[in-house]
Amino acid sequence: MSNTTPTTPSGTTIVEIRDLAHGGEGVGKAADGSDARVWFVEGALPGERVRVGVTGEHKRWLRGHVVELLERSALRVQPPCPVADRCGGCTWQHVDPAAQAQLKADIVANQLRRLEVPTPVAVPSPQALGYRRRARLHYRVTGAGGGQALELGFFGQRSHELVDADHCPVLDPALDWAMQRLREWASWLPATGSVHGITNGVEVVLGLPGVRPHPELDAAIRELIASSSASEDGPTLVGVQLRGGREHVGVGRTWLELDGNGPIPPVAQGPFTFSQAQARQNAALVDHVMAMAQPAERRVLELHAGVGNFSRALARSAKRVWTIDGDREAVANLQRTAERWGLPINVKRGQAEKLLGKLAAGGRTYEIVVCDPPRAGIGVQAAKDLIAVASERIVYVSCDPATLARDLAVMIGAGSPFEIADLRVFDMMPMTAEVEVVVTLKRRGARGGAA
Ligand SMILES: C[S@@+](CC[C@H](N)C(=O)[O-])C[C@H]1O[C@@H](n2cnc3c(N)ncnc32)[C@H](O)[C@@H]1O
Repeated sequence: MSNTTPTTPSGTTIVEIRDLAHGGEGVGKAADGSDARVWFVEGALPGERVRVGVTGEHKRWLRGHVVELLERSALRVQPPCPVADRCGGCTWQHVDPAAQAQLKADIVANQLRRLEVPTPVAVPSPQALGYRRRARLHYRVTGAGGGQALELGFFGQRSHELVDADHCPVLDPALDWAMQRLREWASWLPATGSVHGITNGVEVVLGLPGVRPHPELDAAIRELIASSSASEDGPTLVGVQLRGGREHVGVGRTWLELDGNGPIPPVAQGPFTFSQAQARQNAALVDHVMAMAQPAERRVLELHAGVGNFSRALARSAKRVWTIDGDREAVANLQRTAERWGLPINVKRGQAEKLLGKLAAGGRTYEIVVCDPPRAGIGVQAAKDLIAVASERIVYVSCDPATLARDLAVMIGAGSPFEIADLRVFDMMPMTAEVEVVVTLKRRGARGGAA
């Protein structure tokens, strides 16, 4: 077979899509079979036949986007967002929301296919739109001399070109409203920048990196805080954090209390620290991690604890929870929460991999280990250390099935004392291909699997 891509006169190729890649692109081959390379096609679904324009090329693969739909999948729907064809914020607006969780579970199963794992259970999102409580948008100021305007939105697909949108259907409506208020402050903002936001569904806090305090901006923010809190049923902007250089200035209240749930105390959260994107699905995720960890009267080590999303629940019944995270602000938040509510949590700032190495070398063990690393995963050495440090159960929360596959290969591979008790895929961010996977490991032969 030749490695020359067969193209139509217009420079496009007809591709048959068979699968989904872990980034959510359709995976397929040229329909006429004349090219051995694999295509990764944005916006294409399994079972579709599409005309594709090439956007990237490698000796083993090609990347492209759909130029024309020749045969469509039954899972394809009309995108609810009017700028879905340009905006890079969501890549799955064209996928039936009811099918998204299962498609994500299929992607995870495919990524883990070389390992002995059970079929992942899909946990659909309780809502497909208006769910996103945390986001970062970009802005660009246009015009001059008092006539400034602001373009605001996510970057475009495959580009850093801003897609200006006066409404984002995926954002929680309160956050969407507050983000749009930025347009009124155009004259006091730098030429380009980003805005971070977090909401509890009613109150909103915004964060503006690279923006120094300015008396007129300060006055405009205070006016919006006062007018929105005076209105009874609308959303309220409660504060804005300005982070210009080393100056960190808060106007109003710059944190929200999030994720309090019955006996689980809330955590104070600002716009710059990590929080799961959706409140309702996060509550289900925390419940599941609790059911899987079985922390009662156990010593728990929690890596990548952030502001304590799992820690506060684990600490309700654990003997003690030892946490570590690399983010200074998140660690300080969790420390304050633990002190305020008298939770048995020892909070530490540092690198999880280094801590695991030290604990493994010193022969220290914890009955339960929970970890929730960023996309990079924990890595091969840390995975080896982790199975040495955990004596009963490991709950690994992952947002990247490829790095999870690498780490799991060590954790359940030859000679490991652990096996998989449960594998679940939470749809935390519908309309995107993002996944949240929870793998629970237990000692081989030990009783107790899925709750
Ligand atoms: C996906 S977030 C999870 C946070 C928390 N578990 C939650 O559910 O909100 C990953 C966290 O890992 C932290 N982090 C990233 N790299 C780290 C490292 N090498 N060691 C420790 N923490 C790290 C980040 O600061 C972030 O809080």
